[in-house]
Amino acid sequence: MSEDRFAFIIHPIDVRRDVSRKYPALRHLPTWLIELLSIFCPPLYISKISGVRSNANGRELEGWFVACPLSARLMLSLPPEFVFRKIIQSGRLAERLGARILGLGAFTSVVGDGGISIARALSIPVTTGNSYTVAITMHAVRHAARHLKVDLHEATVAVVGASGSIGSVCASLLAPDAKRLILVGRNEHALQRVAELSRQAGAADVQTNTEVASVRQAQIVISATNALQAVLRSEDLHPGAIICDVARPCDVARQVSEDRPDVVFIEGGVVEVPGDVDFGFDFGAPPGMAYACMAETMALALEGRYESFTLGKRLEPAQVAAIDKIAARHGFKLGGLRNLQQTVSGSEFAAGAAGASPGRQHEKVAVGAADYILES
Ligand SMILES: NC(=O)c1ccc[n+]([C@@H]2O[C@H](COP(=O)([O-])OP(=O)(O)OC[C@H]3O[C@@H](n4cnc5c(N)ncnc54)[C@H](OP(=O)(O)O)[C@@H]3O)[C@@H](O)[C@H]2O)c1
Repeated sequence: MSEDRFAFIIHPIDVRRDVSRKYPALRHLPTWLIELLSIFCPPLYISKISGVRSNANGRELEGWFVACPLSARLMLSLPPEFVFRKIIQSGRLAERLGARILGLGAFTSVVGDGGISIARALSIPVTTGNSYTVAITMHAVRHAARHLKVDLHEATVAVVGASGSIGSVCASLLAPDAKRLILVGRNEHALQRVAELSRQAGAADVQTNTEVASVRQAQIVISATNALQAVLRSEDLHPGAIICDVARPCDVARQVSEDRPDVVFIEGGVVEVPGDVDFGFDFGAPPGMAYACMAETMALALEGRYESFTLGKRLEPAQVAAIDKIAARHGFKLGGLRNLQQTVSGSEFAAGAAGASPGRQHEKVAVGAADYILES
């Protein structure tokens, strides 16, 4: 057994799709029945993860996926005590497997207090992965803007879900560079607090808005809500906009990919993992790739930092910078820019660029694997 061991909790987001990845026979059942059964189902061992190896110190990890059987919808609608109990039971399974650190996937960190209560109930450290998710989102947005020759200093940037854990720190980190920031959310009071933090971080022009339609003014959009349904539709988007969708389930409606070929989507938070990783389970990312929240857990284990690195709803930019450095040292990289399960092609970039500033000449941008090396 390796000395460096981690576990990561996953759970169904698209119920039939995700549950049938482990139990194909269940795809014939209606969603409501799978959800009903899941309420009585204990946490599940999903797979063993091997082959994650540090480029810096050669340490190799052993890990496990464990599943909290509740869907995102159930996590938001069942009594919080019940949901916490299920997540804590999943954490105990990870402890019994031998994990020394636990990562919280998707809504297991969204519900409640961002992992604080869960960490208190367990004897191993817990991390939400949100710090590295923000770091990799920043790399993806800056990378795409550079390739499309969209100057951030001349651009309007919208952050949807701006009062959330990920959205608020994305706003602060973009504040010094964007010409104008539009913070979009449902609660004006919470948005004002984020606007103030953005001004302190150097934003010259910050606006708040509770209408998603305000996104239409933005050339760059980061979306990180905890909504169960898509919030961004074709008519909400600026011509040629670059959209980084961090949310799981996604915030951008599927229809947009058909209606708006001018728009460049990036599936946020996809990371290339160092070594020759075998996750033992298809959770939806391409081979060798993980989501940034998983990568944060792995990077901390490779670093030997068995601590609750990201907990709670409030992130600090310094945490984001710290985990970005740690992850880059061990060899984690931005995993290409993916558009609804596919790598974004050169022509999509060119089309997006042309739409972003009509009339301007753009070089056709070649987007190959080599373009995705992180600049650390
Ligand atoms: N890709 C990855 O690796 C990765 C990693 C971690 C998390 N995630 C995903 O990222 C998303 C955000 O996570 P988080 O931890 O930042 O969640 P969070 O702290 O709960 O924040 C979500 C925010 O979205 C806002 N919101 C909800 N519905 C909205 C709507 N219709 N319009 C505008 N704003 C809305 C909420 O506002 P109210 O407070 O007013 O409800 C809240 O402030 C989740 O979907 C999560 O699964 C992805």
